[in-house]
Amino acid sequence: MSDENRVMGIDIGGTGVKAALVDTQSGAMTTERIRLPTPQPATPAAVMKAIQELQRQLQWQGPVGCGFPGLVKSGRVQRAPNLDSSWVGYDLAGQLRAQLGVARVAIGNDADAAGLAEFRFGAGRDVTGTVLVITLGTGIGSAVFRDGVLLPDTELGHLEMRGKVSEKRAAASVRTNRGLSWKKWAARLNDYLVHVEYLLGVDLFIIGGGVSKKPEKFFPYLQGVGCRVEAARMGNAAGIIGAALFPQA
Ligand code: BGC
Repeated sequence: MSDENRVMGIDIGGTGVKAALVDTQSGAMTTERIRLPTPQPATPAAVMKAIQELQRQLQWQGPVGCGFPGLVKSGRVQRAPNLDSSWVGYDLAGQLRAQLGVARVAIGNDADAAGLAEFRFGAGRDVTGTVLVITLGTGIGSAVFRDGVLLPDTELGHLEMRGKVSEKRAAASVRTNRGLSWKKWAARLNDYLVHVEYLLGVDLFIIGGGVSKKPEKFFPYLQGVGCRVEAARMGNAAGIIGAALFPQA
C-alpha cells in the first residue's frame, strides 16, 4: 500500500497511550492497534517516551495526528485535567516534531478526534442537526456537531451539576472506581444527558469510549433522554482514527 494517505494516529488517554497507522481515506487501521499503559505520574517526558516507543514499533516517519485529553491551542497544552499538572504550557506539537523526527504533526482534543471518526466513518455519517459525541472514559469528553460541522474544543464534561463537575459523577471511571452498579451509574449519566440535551437542543447523542461496546448494560436506563441515543460504532479505535484525520482537517 502507498503511504500517501497514511497517518499515525495517537490517542493519549488517562489509562492508555494508543497508536496505529490509519488509512485516512477508508478509516481502516493498516496496522494493529498498540497500547501502552499511561505512565504514572503522567508527566510530559514519560508520555513522550511511550509515544516514541509506539513510533518505534510502528516503524513510521510520516505524518502524525494526536488526540489529547484536554485543551490544546496552536500545539501548546492549555489544560490537562486528567494528566499531570506539568502539561500546562507544554509545546506538544514542537516536542512531537522534535522527538519523533517528523515534519507534519497536528493535534486536537481526544473527544473531537473520536467525533470526527464517527462522523466520517461511523454512527454520525450523513446525520444532520445538533449531534453530540460524548466519550466516557477517565473523564467525559464532548464533540459538538451541527450539520456535520465540528465546533471544536468544547468541554461539556466539566458542566457543573448538583455542585459537582459532571465527569466526577458520571465518567465511566467513576463506575469502576466506586464499584457502582450499571443501573446506579446509568442514572447519573441519564441526568447528565438530559441536562445537556436541554441546554443545547440536542438531536442525537453518540456515546463513545470503552463502554460503547456494552450498550445493553446501560442504554435501558437512559429513558429520560428526550432525543435519540446511539452507541458509537468505531469502538476503541475512534480516538486513533480521528486523530489521524487531524493533519488533513
Ligand atoms: C477533558 C477533555 C477530554 C475528556 C476526555 C476531560 O477531563 O477536559 O478535554 O476530552 O476529559 O478525555
